[in-house]
Amino acid sequence: MDGKALAERVRSEVAAEVADLGRIGLATVLVGDDPASDVYIRLKHKASTEVGIDSRDIRLPATITEAELLEHVGELNADEAVHGILVQLPLPAGLDEAAIIAAIDPRKDVDGLHPFNAGQLLLGRPTFVGATPVGVLALLDEYDVELSGARAVVIGRSDIVGKPAALLLLQRHATVTICHSRTRDLEAEVARADVVVAAVGVPGLVGSDWIKAGATVIDVGITRTDDGLVGDVAPDVAARAGLLTPVPGGVGPMTIAMLLANAVKAARYRSGMLAFPPL
Ligand SMILES: NC(=O)c1ccc[n+]([C@@H]2O[C@H](COP(=O)([O-])OP(=O)(O)OC[C@H]3O[C@@H](n4cnc5c(N)ncnc54)[C@H](OP(=O)(O)O)[C@@H]3O)[C@@H](O)[C@H]2O)c1
Repeated sequence: MDGKALAERVRSEVAAEVADLGRIGLATVLVGDDPASDVYIRLKHKASTEVGIDSRDIRLPATITEAELLEHVGELNADEAVHGILVQLPLPAGLDEAAIIAAIDPRKDVDGLHPFNAGQLLLGRPTFVGATPVGVLALLDEYDVELSGARAVVIGRSDIVGKPAALLLLQRHATVTICHSRTRDLEAEVARADVVVAAVGVPGLVGSDWIKAGATVIDVGITRTDDGLVGDVAPDVAARAGLLTPVPGGVGPMTIAMLLANAVKAARYRSGMLAFPPL
């Protein structure tokens, strides 16, 4: 499954929408100097600039207090030029992620992590949903993967990938199983699946003998190794799966593209073109 090609298409659609809607502001907040987070933030800004989104790259020291960080978030909430806000996670130790995320105006929460948006997804009325799970669904749709009635196994239960991906699949009428580090027989769970979404961060965890022949496999995992980026799915799964996302070039580019799409959505909410539910 070619995430790069689909992402390119989404980005050109976003660029046209930005040209239509006028100024759209996206602010990212990076606290500390985690090198992986720095790479992700750079990619997000480069992509934003390319489609005409005004991106603001806010960098704060790891020594910042929670009160100071909350103040920055409050300023972005009040800033009319900012439509979307993304606080890059993980935050350095000592900062309460839940408190920071809850302080973001839900109407600007492009990562879909605020309890209001996470709750809307749980209730089957999605508003903002994180860019990675939305990207996963977009890939499945692009390749016409039948989800209704399909057995889907999501490995990973994080708030940013596993849980929202599972809820989106459930909304599309898949029969969803969520697996995690305490799952007793992961292989047996995966072997039953028509659709597998691996979002773990353990290179090669999912072996080809786990996969039902012809299943669709989405590899969200990204681990940096000396040989480059590798996913959670062993390379020989390609021979057994019906469809498979490569790493790199699968979910990664879709995440960036869908973040831009979420920024456009934020602008539509602000303008009233889309109705944001009452808070
Ligand atoms: N492609 C992209 O754009 C993109 C975007 C976001 C993340 N990612 C990548 O996706 C991966 C997951 O990210 P995340 O933020 O969701 O990570 P996370 O918060 O660390 O969550 C990992 C999940 O995997 C589960 N897990 C760990 N070891 C396991 C094992 N041996 N068997 C079964 N489950 C296991 C954990 O279970 P417990 O809950 O029991 O601990 C947890 O639920 C990472 O590699 C990350 O880099 C990629």
